[in-house]
Amino acid sequence: MSGSSAVSNMTNGKLASPSRYLLPSDKPESERLNLQNRVLKKAFGNVVFAPFTLSSDDAVLDVGTGTACWTLDCHDAFRTAHYYGIDITSDLFPILDVDLKSRIHLTEGNILRLQGEWADRSYTLVNQRLLIAALSAENWKTAINNIYKVLAPGGWVQFVETNHCRSGDVTDRHHVILRHTFEKRGLLFECAEKIPALLHDAGFVEINSMIYEIDLGSWAGQDGIEARDSFIGVYKAMKYPVVDVMGIMSSPDFDSLIEQMQREWDSTPGSKIVFHVLYAQKSASP
Ligand SMILES: C[S@@+](CC[C@H](N)C(=O)[O-])C[C@H]1O[C@@H](n2cnc3c(N)ncnc32)[C@H](O)[C@@H]1O
Repeated sequence: MSGSSAVSNMTNGKLASPSRYLLPSDKPESERLNLQNRVLKKAFGNVVFAPFTLSSDDAVLDVGTGTACWTLDCHDAFRTAHYYGIDITSDLFPILDVDLKSRIHLTEGNILRLQGEWADRSYTLVNQRLLIAALSAENWKTAINNIYKVLAPGGWVQFVETNHCRSGDVTDRHHVILRHTFEKRGLLFECAEKIPALLHDAGFVEINSMIYEIDLGSWAGQDGIEARDSFIGVYKAMKYPVVDVMGIMSSPDFDSLIEQMQREWDSTPGSKIVFHVLYAQKSASP
């Protein structure tokens, strides 16, 4: 990792684990992730995209689980299977009651290193959502190859990623800065577009890709407001690396750009954030 990219993520203003990761791991981020999860669940209408159902013997791995919001929803939807969530930090993990603890196991783990108990299991489904702000091009290759290794034959992987909002000039200006930030940090901004080829190279079959567009801004009512708050929240949360660490723009310019973008979304019917949902299968035969 180079000097400029070996910057740590923040926990309540303090530096946490060394990582390329651009976002904090604190209470506001935990609340934002849970809001984002509600927005995505409503927009997607389901939690599992691959054409199969989970049974009691199955094990499910959630990579970069954060607040485990997806894992908890998947558990609610299937009420069966065993769930494992890994994350480079346990700071966002929820407190689970005894009953849930017997079926949902959250541990610190890094998808770039096949180490720990989680890596010794074989999973029917692996979910990885929104690691765009954490992985370089080389990291994506490693992550997808590692997921392939821990999947059972015939098992499925699914990814959800975004890198694009559509609205007006301010949003386009922000997009250029965002792309520059990711590139400067060594992150793969175009991961959603690259995942199908990486899946193919790793040996996956049945590669599927879908696009979902989610309304952003008050013109779209309460759903638009919640989506706006969630995604304006993520861009605000990148202030520390953009302003203080990488010095890409000044603090007042950053605040003003985000405020203008929020106003643009509210006043521009048709403002959207574009999500890519991708899933693929590990062949059942060797
Ligand atoms: C934007 S959050 C998404 C959380 C969750 N997947 C969701 O959709 O709500 C990304 C999460 O990935 C974790 N993360 C970053 N790099 C990771 C890695 N190499 N291995 C495992 N988790 C990682 C971060 O700590 C963070 O909790």
